[in-house]
Amino acid sequence: MTSAETFLDAIPISLYVVDRELRIVAWNRLREEGPQGQPRAKVLGRHLKHVLHPRGFKATLPILEQVFRTGRAHEGTVESRGGQLFHVRRLPVEAGGRVTHVLSWFEDVTERRALEMRLIASDRLAYLGQLVAGVVHEISNPLAGIAGCAEALASLAMKGDPKRKREADEFRRLIRSEVARCERLVRSLLAEARPDASTTADVGAVVATALKLLERHPRFERVKVRARVPRTLPLARIEPDSLQQVVMALALNAARAMAGSGTLTIRASLASRRLSLIVADTGPGIAPAARDHIFEPFFTTNPDEGTGLGLAIARSLVRGRGGDLVLRPSRRGASFRVVLAVEPAPR
Ligand SMILES: Nc1ncnc2c1ncn2[C@@H]1O[C@H](COP(=O)(O)OP(=O)(O)OP(=O)(O)O)[C@@H](O)[C@H]1O
Ligand SMILES: [Mg+2]
Repeated sequence: MTSAETFLDAIPISLYVVDRELRIVAWNRLREEGPQGQPRAKVLGRHLKHVLHPRGFKATLPILEQVFRTGRAHEGTVESRGGQLFHVRRLPVEAGGRVTHVLSWFEDVTERRALEMRLIASDRLAYLGQLVAGVVHEISNPLAGIAGCAEALASLAMKGDPKRKREADEFRRLIRSEVARCERLVRSLLAEARPDASTTADVGAVVATALKLLERHPRFERVKVRARVPRTLPLARIEPDSLQQVVMALALNAARAMAGSGTLTIRASLASRRLSLIVADTGPGIAPAARDHIFEPFFTTNPDEGTGLGLAIARSLVRGRGGDLVLRPSRRGASFRVVLAVEPAPR
């Protein structure tokens, strides 16, 4: 092996070099192992046409010709069939005033790109958090006012005849429960804006409460629910209200997707200090084109009833405490996994 090859092998980037006749003169180790990997001994000295996939060669040829002609580097991005993303550079190598070789450089940027996308999404959520904190503040005061007025009106009406009294009492209860609902919503939005890092949840208890709420929900009239949560699970690192919000968001999405009938399965298990909660349904599943977007804030396929915030907030609630929410591959329906960090067991 020449020393030049040793140097090329040390570069953590897949690369190869061709001469003016498009014969391969260098092919580094990462290139041997990459998506179009072939052993160096098989390709050195051969024409690029006989080494690349025909489609790849067809796309590459005009670019190489251009770099040889102009002496200027070319950059682009390509996606491999396996879904990896590469930043590709074609760099001219000059000797004696002319381009003698072109070096093709393939930097794997799959993870960097995924991180960038996550950062964009988390920026949006951070902004949303601020917005929510402001809105919450604006809503709390009028709510307290409405509750007070309702009490005052009701006590006025209480002085009238018994039928009026009953009606007034009914309205008072209604207003109270609606105000309480708004207050809970406001609190859960605040929890999203400022997560508390010390709280933990008993997953079994949270799932039990969620099931009680779902039983009464109109979307669940013809949906069967199967839940399996072992009793011996450790506490999960998440605010119980947040976890409930996550479970409800997933369950309500599932019920909507199943259009009223089907089976919802909730399963919890513990594996290597991580608690995993699976929420799966027997609905139509998620279209491949939508899969990459469902966790984005405001992405919804139900613009008339949804805000598209359900999954975005659910994911940020669990990520805020070191967990994660992911879509699992599944043959039928949709299946989500909530991953939660657990508290060390008490000694
Ligand atoms: N279980 C599921 N089956 C099929 N598609 C789903 C499922 N869960 C989510 N989706 C898809 O993901 C999208 C985003 O979900 P998300 O909960 O964030 O918003 P939404 O349910 O549309 O609105 P909102 O939660 O505000 O009511 C949905 O519009 C739907 O297309
Ligand atoms: Mg939703």
